[in-house]
Amino acid sequence: MHFVNRLTGLTYEVREPTEQDAPTVHATLRELLDDEDSFVLVNYLGEVRDVQEIGKILKDSNSSQRLWYLTFINNELVGGASLFVAPFFPFKVQTHEGRLAYWVRRKFRGMGLTYVMLYVLLSNSGVTYVSAFVDRLNIKSMKILEALGLERLALLEEAIYNVKECKLHDVYLYRGKREVALMRLREKLEERGFSY
Ligand SMILES: CC(C)(COP(=O)(O)OP(=O)(O)OC[C@H]1O[C@@H](n2cnc3c(N)ncnc32)[C@H](O)[C@@H]1OP(=O)(O)O)[C@@H](O)C(=O)NCCC(=O)NCCS
Repeated sequence: MHFVNRLTGLTYEVREPTEQDAPTVHATLRELLDDEDSFVLVNYLGEVRDVQEIGKILKDSNSSQRLWYLTFINNELVGGASLFVAPFFPFKVQTHEGRLAYWVRRKFRGMGLTYVMLYVLLSNSGVTYVSAFVDRLNIKSMKILEALGLERLALLEEAIYNVKECKLHDVYLYRGKREVALMRLREKLEERGFSY
């Protein structure tokens, strides 16, 4: 799917990953590992899997249980987003719920890219509810989820261990309806000058 931003003239391509994206995804995850404002899994693990392992994960990555999208500007990878279905219970009993995760490379932040990726992700999913865990320190990510109409439901104290810092972090649980999030995302895309 293609998006054009009428304010910047930039075109964004959002598509499913393939095994061939492994080296680029690996390099981007390494970049996020050194990014002190990043709160994705690699930042807590303190390491990135090797290219081959990432390739295996990316191969046929999209299934009924997981959706992934990568975004490119002029063929350069700029961001990624995923939805993991049935995050809290076995798949059979929780196909109506998905957990969000997303990242944007530092130099492409502040351009509304997360809204683009989440719009594609949620348009292509049939879940009723979306949820997300956000580090207590990750203000920008909270703003994104609140813009989508997700509600902050709980603070989970010491929920995740940061291997690099040898420290437990608190996370907030956010949850809301996909339909509401999609409506809010359409408004955000309009506000930010995107057409698609
Ligand atoms: C979270 C992340 C994806 C957001 O990137 P982005 O989409 O470019 O976000 P923006 O910079 O446009 O900011 C998003 C919102 O937060 C607001 N915001 C940005 N910095 C802020 C700050 N310091 N205080 C308050 N609000 C802030 C913006 O105004 C924007 O809201 P708006 O659309 O209502 O104007 C990006 O920071 C990132 O990749 N971080 C590292 C990976 C990560 O932590 N992912 C999330 C895991 S839960």
